[in-house]
Amino acid sequence: MRKQIAAANWKMNLTASQAQELAAALATGVTQVQPGQQVILGVPFPYLVLVQNKVAGNKNIFLSAQNCADKKNGAYTGETSAEMLHSISIPYVIIGHSERREYYHETHSQLATKVDLALAQDIQPIFCCGEPLHVRETNTQNVFVEKQLKESLFHLSDAQMKNFIIAYEPIWAIGTGKTASSDQAQEMHAHIRQVLASKYGNETAESVSILYGGSVKAANATEIFSKPDVDGGLVGGASLVATEFISIIESLKPGS
Ligand code: PGA
Repeated sequence: MRKQIAAANWKMNLTASQAQELAAALATGVTQVQPGQQVILGVPFPYLVLVQNKVAGNKNIFLSAQNCADKKNGAYTGETSAEMLHSISIPYVIIGHSERREYYHETHSQLATKVDLALAQDIQPIFCCGEPLHVRETNTQNVFVEKQLKESLFHLSDAQMKNFIIAYEPIWAIGTGKTASSDQAQEMHAHIRQVLASKYGNETAESVSILYGGSVKAANATEIFSKPDVDGGLVGGASLVATEFISIIESLKPGS
């Protein structure tokens, strides 16, 4: 019913030759993808086409950008539009990563615009949400994440929300080596699904893939992915090492 997804987020790492080397290793090494599972690589803009060429022979690997502009086109120096991504056949884009919210001050309404512009180009957003440590410490994470979803996604139609992809990434677990426990992940994922169900109904909520992100690695992926509402992961650091990421892919539950 919904896809199980291993998504890599390379962030601002690797030179062109390193990126191509990693892509080539994945193109030959990613062989265990079952129907209903999907592998997505979130690649820096300058390497999208290079990596696309490297993985072209592997039907199981799809590419994602890590961001797109909140404007359609025009005089916005340094920006990359969803239309540009579509024109080079990129099917996914990460939107609202906490690093973009925090360092580049992206707002809920800008993210809503980015989601719309991506969908208008048939690009599926991987929409990120998640709370900072001080919110978790006051046990108000459910309300915090609910607001992120409502303000950036709840204008979408039922058809647009069907098969959507959301990544829950508690900020205190990103790049820190500290993972949410699998129970903490399950609790939030179930909450997200229930928030979606309250607006879109159960069938649509059940079709949405909710990925966990934050220090996922080969050693903890099986345990985290085993939870019923965790449909795979968005992986930063560990996705830069081919063997680690391949092992994470092999930890996905069977697709349904
Ligand atoms: P991490 O990053 O796996 O290095 O914690 C995850 C992310 O930010 O997407």
